[in-house]
Amino acid sequence: MACSNSFHGCVSFRYENYCSPICKSKLFSYLNCNWPLTVVKNKSSKVVRSVLSITQDTLTSKETNIPVRRLDILRLTDGGETEQVLFNAGKFGRFGGIFVPETLVSCLKKLEAEFNMARCDPEFQVNSFNYDFLKFLDFYVWNTSFSGTFYHLWSLQQTLRDYVGRETPLYFAQRLTDYYKNCMGEGPEIYLKREDLNHGGAHKINNAIAQAMLARRMGRKRVLAATGAGQHGVGTAAACAKLSLDCTILMGNVDMERQSSNMVLMKHLGAQVIPIEGTFKDATSEAIRNWVGDLDNSYYLSGTAVGPHPCPSMVREFQSVIGKETRKQAMEKWGGKPDVVVACVGSGSNALGIFHEFVRDEDVRLIGIEAAGTGIDSGKHSATLAKGEIGVYHGARSYLLQDDDGQIIGPHSIGVGLHYPGVGPELSFLKDIERAEFYTVIDKEALDAYALLCRLEGIFPALEVAHAFAYLGRLCKTLPNGTKVVVNCSGRGDKDADVVFKHLQEQTSDGIIPIF
Ligand SMILES: Cc1ncc(COP(=O)(O)O)c(C=O)c1O
Repeated sequence: MACSNSFHGCVSFRYENYCSPICKSKLFSYLNCNWPLTVVKNKSSKVVRSVLSITQDTLTSKETNIPVRRLDILRLTDGGETEQVLFNAGKFGRFGGIFVPETLVSCLKKLEAEFNMARCDPEFQVNSFNYDFLKFLDFYVWNTSFSGTFYHLWSLQQTLRDYVGRETPLYFAQRLTDYYKNCMGEGPEIYLKREDLNHGGAHKINNAIAQAMLARRMGRKRVLAATGAGQHGVGTAAACAKLSLDCTILMGNVDMERQSSNMVLMKHLGAQVIPIEGTFKDATSEAIRNWVGDLDNSYYLSGTAVGPHPCPSMVREFQSVIGKETRKQAMEKWGGKPDVVVACVGSGSNALGIFHEFVRDEDVRLIGIEAAGTGIDSGKHSATLAKGEIGVYHGARSYLLQDDDGQIIGPHSIGVGLHYPGVGPELSFLKDIERAEFYTVIDKEALDAYALLCRLEGIFPALEVAHAFAYLGRLCKTLPNGTKVVVNCSGRGDKDADVVFKHLQEQTSDGIIPIF
């Protein structure tokens, strides 16, 4: 496939700094690309042209004919007098960046280069290998000190299909739809993107398996990760077992108690689970510290769209399969796009996973729901976008819950995976440019929504996504009849069953969910 492309005109000015303009071109959306680019502008600061071409298996710069996979930064020229501007893929407006000690920078650059190569490498993305031959090669690679490049046996596409179980269904929730109809029998149609049906029970595995493949591609043998609700820990431990990588998961002791079933699963999957005093934020700090101590051998597998570049972009990219499938399935089901997409917001991975595909479709409303804990004014919440202020945390600039001295305010939520004082830079940016709307839901509303979905649809959602379901009560009343609403059902709630049971016992004395 040959394709040259020009991206001026296809990007509105408002989005000029949003990820990279070129990812909006057909070529790059096909390849799922978002490169750090040198973009050529003329004197009046107008982007002049791009000079990329692609063949079936190699992306090349027309000018040099050098395969792009050997270049860190692709140079574009128009042959005239130009000003070169670096579009840094790690910046989302004033958010993002790399705020880390110098020792880490080169490591992050290596990771970024490898990620950029992998995302555009058909071998990594779509081609399947001769498994029998590579099984032998793989054995050789892992049992000798040979460090080659033939690490992944399956392509990402094949792994997502056969191991993770994609594509996940776009499910029409008939009874939930009926429940929210008004007295005239009118209301929106509610669909669930069933990420809870993924292997491991949540969206987290989409990113975990892809990054574990990247770790192997980079020759790393040890993977480190931090987890809160345990879903990322389970996804990472499973991916590491499958790819024969050593796995260490750090988890706050408070979260271990609240999500003990996931902690046990991680151990069954062969991970070493290390308790850290505190919650997810403390486990993340410790994981980064641990990583810095073993940079040559370890791979830090980020589970959500926060942290220094390229972590947020990488996680979003590997989760964007959710939105891509949603678009295709919506087209098959009703011949159009969703009108409204709703997702819960912890730090951003499931929300961006479904939002990203629709960011440029301005007729699609994107709604993120944060945890208001015991109340948005109670001081016990995790509503970073609603109440946070801009600051730097865990290596990037974004909205943060912080006091007047810039110290982190401890978050709270019944949904352990929402319990983080920050949020990713890309979501912070979508809030700033008003492309996405954000609202909050308190613990009790989430618990009630969990119960409602159990009884109406026979689906037990994770308490994190129960926040998104809870918001439907307010949203549906405002929508015209027949509006197509898609909720990203990011995970299932086995891990939360005990907490919900205790809550219901307080209400009903027998813990039985009431019939609506
Ligand atoms: C099922 C589920 N949904 C949502 C989240 C929130 O994380 P994120 O905002 O990265 O999707 C988590 C976090 O653990 C989770 O387990």
